[in-house]
Formats: sequence, structure tokens, C-alpha cells
Amino acid sequence: MKPTVFIDRKVPNEVEAYIAEHCNIEKWEQSTHIPRAMLHEKLANASGLLTAGMKIDADLLERAPKLKIVSSISVGYNHFDLAAMKERGVIGTNTPHVLNDTVADLALALMLGTARRVAELDRYVKDGQWKSGDGLKLFGVDVHHAKLGIIGMGRIGEAVARRAKFGFDMDVAYFNRSRKPEAEEKLGVRFSQLNDLLAASDFVVMLAPLTAETTKLIGHNEFKMMKPSSIFINISRGQTVDELALIEALQSGTIAAAGLDVYEKEPIDADHPFLQMANVLTLPHIGSATTQTRFDMAMLAAQNLVSGLSGQTPTCMVDELK
Ligand code: DGY
Repeated sequence: MKPTVFIDRKVPNEVEAYIAEHCNIEKWEQSTHIPRAMLHEKLANASGLLTAGMKIDADLLERAPKLKIVSSISVGYNHFDLAAMKERGVIGTNTPHVLNDTVADLALALMLGTARRVAELDRYVKDGQWKSGDGLKLFGVDVHHAKLGIIGMGRIGEAVARRAKFGFDMDVAYFNRSRKPEAEEKLGVRFSQLNDLLAASDFVVMLAPLTAETTKLIGHNEFKMMKPSSIFINISRGQTVDELALIEALQSGTIAAAGLDVYEKEPIDADHPFLQMANVLTLPHIGSATTQTRFDMAMLAAQNLVSGLSGQTPTCMVDELK
């Protein structure tokens, strides 16, 4: 008999068809979250769960006595309570690799967008303010040949470094839990302690995954170390930064601007201070969201799900659950 899986979002037809070859599918395809009671009903019988950001904790696992695998359509898996999953022997998988270049592209888009004030200039033209010459007050700063500091030198960090180094002639430093001699050699980047990186960089790009050690890694003290002209980009998770400290740093001129794809609370509240700040470029957590990459992520997650349910070790099992 085929195992039952619950899919909590719309996935491409081809991905669903692949899963259907191996599993019975229960699904929720609306853009709103599934009501809790209905979710519990669906999970009661599910051996597999395909999701993206659903919090997988002891309470949820309690409701899912048959669950063997949670396959997430994301590289980040900070929504997994790893201890609770381990205790119940539930496998967790993610979708690394396939999104590296897409997310790196967006990091560059945020750097270029903030440095060259693209959103402000767009508004300037559309509001009919372009009457003569160029918007003198809206000159930006150069990305090329500037100093870039990358926090978190994983696969996406390397893809950002490659673009910065070879596309924009940037001087690239990185801070990471462990040194990456191969990346240093291949990409011509150098390791730096966090404080030195913050003090020297024109652009600081946060790419570290959210863990206990990286929660609020950047706060008041760290922003104070940065140059008043520096630009902070966050494309990892909102919680890696103390958001109040970031607001304060931007309002007081401690740093010049920020480009953000992620926030402490998502979606961001309509009255959030970031939305009133011209020096903040805000995106709705779309780092990996191109049609092709989201398709590739969904297919990889489906393959992880099916292989986990057929008793094989999925390719993308998260390290802590191995
Ligand atoms: C990821 O894959 O973790 C991206 O942030 C999208 O959620």
C-alpha cells in the first residue's frame, strides 16, 4: 500500500504527479495557512509531510504518530525542532545546492539596489519629479571596487563572493565558523574576524544560517563598529539580526542603508518602521523565488520525500538528523 503524504502548499503539477506515483496525497493548496484543526486531522494519518516553513515541534509531532519524514522546500531548516525530531526518529530534509546562484543573484540585486538607490529613483520618475537634469539628491555609491564582507561562507556565500570578485572587482573578506582555504584560493577572498570585517566593509552581507549561535549575531555593538557609509544586506533569516538595533542604526546614521529580504516577523507588519525608511530596500523573502529554481527545489524536496518513505537515505538529509 502506498504511504500517505500531506503537502501543505501548491506544488507544480509535474512534482505532484511524481509524488502521486509513489504516495497517496492529501493537500492544502490555498495561500492562507491551513487551519490548525484541519492540519491535525491530515497529520494523523500521514507518513510524510512536504512543507516549506511549517514549525515542526514536539506538539506537532505528537499529532503525527505515523510521520517518518518532513521534507522542506527550503535550504534553511530553522523551523525544525531537531531534538524533538531526533527523539521520534523523524527524518528531516532540505533543498541545498539548486538555489545557490539564484539567491546569490538576489544578494547582488540588493547591493546594487541599495547602493544605486534604484527603488527611490523609480519612485522619483514615476511620481513625475524628473523635471530637469538628474535627481541630484539621489546619487548613489559604487559597488565596483568596494569592500565586501560576507558573514556565513557556505555555498551561497561562495556564489556571492564569485560574483563580487570577478563581476565587480570587489575586495572580498568573509567570516565563517570555520576557515575555507579552498574558497580563499579559488575565489581570492580572505578570512577575517567578525569585528574586523564589520569595521572595514562597505557592504556587509549576512548569509549565516539561523542557529543558537547566530541568533541576533548583529546588534547595537556590531552596527557601531560599521562605517557610517556602510550598507547592510540580510538574505539569511531576520532573527540573525537585532531588528530594533538595525532600525536605530539606520535612523541615527550609524550605517547608511539596508537591503532586506528577511525579517523577524514575516510577513512584515504594515506599520513596521522599515516601510517608512527611504534608505531601506525591502523584499518579501524571495531569495530563491525564480520559477525555475522554485521548481527545482520542489522536485528535489519531492525526491527526498519519496526516497525517505521507501526506506532509502534521502540525498539531502539535514546533518543534525543523520
Ligand atoms: C530557503 O530556502 O531557506 C529560503 O530562505 C527560502 O525559504
